[in-house]
Amino acid sequence: MRAHKIALIRGDGIGPELVDAALTVLGAVTGDGYTLDYVEVDAGADTYRRTGTACSAEDVELLRTGVDATLKGPVGLPDVRLPDGTEAGLLGGILRVGLDLYANIRPVFLLPGVTSALAGHEPGDIDYVIVRENTEGLYASRGKGVGNRWAVSDTLMTTREGTLRVCRRAFELARSRDRGRKVTCVDKSNVLRSHALFREVCTEVAAGFPDVTTEFLYADAAAQALVLRPEEFDVLVMENFLGDVLSDLGGATVGGISVCPSGNIGDHTAYFEPIHGSAPGIAGRGLANPVGQILAAALMLDHLGHAGDGERIRRAVAGALAAGHVRITPQGAAEGGPVAVAEAIVSHLDKENR
Ligand code: IPM
Ligand code: MN
Repeated sequence: MRAHKIALIRGDGIGPELVDAALTVLGAVTGDGYTLDYVEVDAGADTYRRTGTACSAEDVELLRTGVDATLKGPVGLPDVRLPDGTEAGLLGGILRVGLDLYANIRPVFLLPGVTSALAGHEPGDIDYVIVRENTEGLYASRGKGVGNRWAVSDTLMTTREGTLRVCRRAFELARSRDRGRKVTCVDKSNVLRSHALFREVCTEVAAGFPDVTTEFLYADAAAQALVLRPEEFDVLVMENFLGDVLSDLGGATVGGISVCPSGNIGDHTAYFEPIHGSAPGIAGRGLANPVGQILAAALMLDHLGHAGDGERIRRAVAGALAAGHVRITPQGAAEGGPVAVAEAIVSHLDKENR
């Protein structure tokens, strides 16, 4: 029996109830030949408030070398800020850069029973993955912008090595999907030299993947195309900040960011989380939507080599939504709350699979 050691970061606001819901589903799907052994890690905005750091150095080390993967809830609280006034993704900054998790994988797919903000789309029409560079780009200046209250400048950093590795990931991902085998490089290389380097390096990587079609789109045109013709996309790769913005745009086209999972993946470890925030205003009120967190748990199983179980979770989520056993409001809340949603998904695990 293979034992995977998994760190749990429950997070702030609605984080703990979402992680509980994901654990309910994981508990029902796993067990065939492997176990998930959890270790709790105290991290996030509340941790920062209590201890002065969003994650202790020992815990960062545990996440780096002591676990096979991490399942993380959303973090952040509106009144917890760094001394420079930014929230700066307190924990995201520490973990994404600190653990060198250079690829932020953000699948965007339309589920049944979910209303797309776009008219006329069925499940299957929208099914692409944004590969967001996760350690440099405009976020490289996180907490380091220079200036005063009249003018500040942040730095957008693109390195050849950083771009090579994230583009390779994107092409490998396109190769592994049975969709279009296409990578779209999104940038603003007509204006920014840093993005021109990104495009140049992506072109070099593309030469090594002749079986994958490559296309290049300026970011403004890409934003338009993701709304007008999302069915044409397969894998998109882009600089950090563009990936942040366009993944929320993508989320809006598939029922909202509350259903969107992500994986922050490096060469040695990875953590999995929903792309939305911690919504402290609705915490504990039975309104939080755990679908993004549950789908993040499914991505974690894929990563651990249990893609069959990851797929079982995705099928159960789709089945529960299609049957109306899980209902998502136009505002992105889940009727019945996280406990009921997790139970409905678990009951579909048995119906749809095995
Ligand atoms: C995300 C989030 C973070 C980011 C925030 C919380 C700093 O929006 O994961 O997309 O901008 O990366
Ligand atoms: Mn974001």
